[in-house]
Amino acid sequence: MPSKKKRRRQPERPMIHPRNKYSENPPDFALLASLYPSFQSFVFYTRDGRPRIDWTDFNATRELTRVLLLHDYGLQWWIPDGQLCPTVPNRSNYIHWIEDLLASDIIVRNNNSKENVRGFDIGTGANCIYPLLGASLLGWSFVGSDFTDIALEWARKNAKNNAHISQLIEIRKVESCDDNSVEELHDGELLSCESKTESSARKVTEEAVPLHLTSFDPLADANKRYQGPPVLLGVVRDGEKFDFCMCNPPFFETMEEAGLNPKTSCGGTPEEMICPGGEKAFITLIIEDSAVLNQSFRWYTSMVGRKSNLKSLISKLREVGVTIVKTTEFVQGQTCRWGLAWSFVPPARKIVSPHVAEKNIISFMLEGLQRQFSAIHVLQSIESFFRTCGASSELNASSFTVDITASNDHCKAILNNELQAIDEATSCEHVPETSNSSSSLHPHSNGLGFRISVYQQIPGTLLVKGSLQHRDNPVSGAFSLIIQRLEEDLKFKFCR
Ligand SMILES: C[S@@+](CC[C@H](N)C(=O)[O-])C[C@H]1O[C@@H](n2cnc3c(N)ncnc32)[C@H](O)[C@@H]1O
Repeated sequence: MPSKKKRRRQPERPMIHPRNKYSENPPDFALLASLYPSFQSFVFYTRDGRPRIDWTDFNATRELTRVLLLHDYGLQWWIPDGQLCPTVPNRSNYIHWIEDLLASDIIVRNNNSKENVRGFDIGTGANCIYPLLGASLLGWSFVGSDFTDIALEWARKNAKNNAHISQLIEIRKVESCDDNSVEELHDGELLSCESKTESSARKVTEEAVPLHLTSFDPLADANKRYQGPPVLLGVVRDGEKFDFCMCNPPFFETMEEAGLNPKTSCGGTPEEMICPGGEKAFITLIIEDSAVLNQSFRWYTSMVGRKSNLKSLISKLREVGVTIVKTTEFVQGQTCRWGLAWSFVPPARKIVSPHVAEKNIISFMLEGLQRQFSAIHVLQSIESFFRTCGASSELNASSFTVDITASNDHCKAILNNELQAIDEATSCEHVPETSNSSSSLHPHSNGLGFRISVYQQIPGTLLVKGSLQHRDNPVSGAFSLIIQRLEEDLKFKFCR
């Protein structure tokens, strides 16, 4: 009798940062219900005995957040009805990603960076979630900005109610821009908010981006600029230095668009959820402000809700001359978001000449793997690394390999960091893509096909090997840079 071949379940994409408290053990609703009577009333049991909550009930999601912050982080927390309620595992992923960026050696570390990390949370909200998590988990200090009275009042309350970290958190009011308001720029030049917006608009050329909602006029929307209160310029004070900024921006343009997910109820007022031009306009302003503030921050970061926006925002970053761009994907349940990070600090890492490693097989070691990780986590991360850039990426769990087919564009997206790092290291200017100095890095128009294999060497050490499919591929220089980029990414995530 022919043996019935069991179909292997493809492993799921990584959902959660490996250092996230919930990466191994998701929140245990039954336990929380037994410990916190206020939560118990929101928990019901399915026929097979599994505890659940009604995700469409704002009171239930808020109570879950409250008890998680209390139980797992020792934090006192509350928000008034209707304010945006954060999901704790999801927000923690962003904090851990920033922790990875700060720990990386791509850009120079501050001597005292471990002890005195200082962050800036753009739009901290009533929930003040990032300062609370960052301060309680990692001892970071924060300035959390916002412009609505309710957000400022409750963010302050949330900080104050946690005496052990309240000293680490400053909540800063952003003054709304009206026509008469005057802002002082860092060079001392006085400028009205309106003319400030215009001046930064001149610096960066707008791009057209396809819009998803047919109700908008695509021509008008593609060039929409953010018109709200200031974001960084005019809020960051003269001489202030930060290790990073972070932002969960108003993602949407309308409340209808914001309410498109009927499966959850996390609240959210119009001020929290929407702005003209949506996230693209908001993050564009962060980018423009960052070009002026430059090395006042080591890393600038933002969450991005739409992949289509990610691409155009990265183009914008190239225009303003950043030295490094990094992206990541945050997958939580059915929600997928991206993290975008950039810096103006010159890269510290040694730049490898494109001629050094024109090989078809390139390997590197992942040593000092943290205990909770295995080869499968690394494979999943490799798969997602290439998928994020749009390449086709197939994980085979039985052979411990990932097969990648990357078009010219995908390769460019992956190489983006490298090219910029090389530009910075050589001339401090952006080298055009046709320039001779970098032409050998550019993938052939046919793109690349390659396989990544992962082998366990000894416990805690993995060998990662990349093999190019076509040995005579004229762009093996690009291949070696892609593998370097992967190595860097995996080391951030898995090795400390
Ligand atoms: C999506 S909410 C994020 C709240 C919180 N950080 C979180 O992750 O749940 C966006 C927040 O940005 C605030 N906001 C909008 N424009 C702003 C600006 N120019 N400066 C500071 N905050 C702003 C809104 O009031 C809102 O609280």
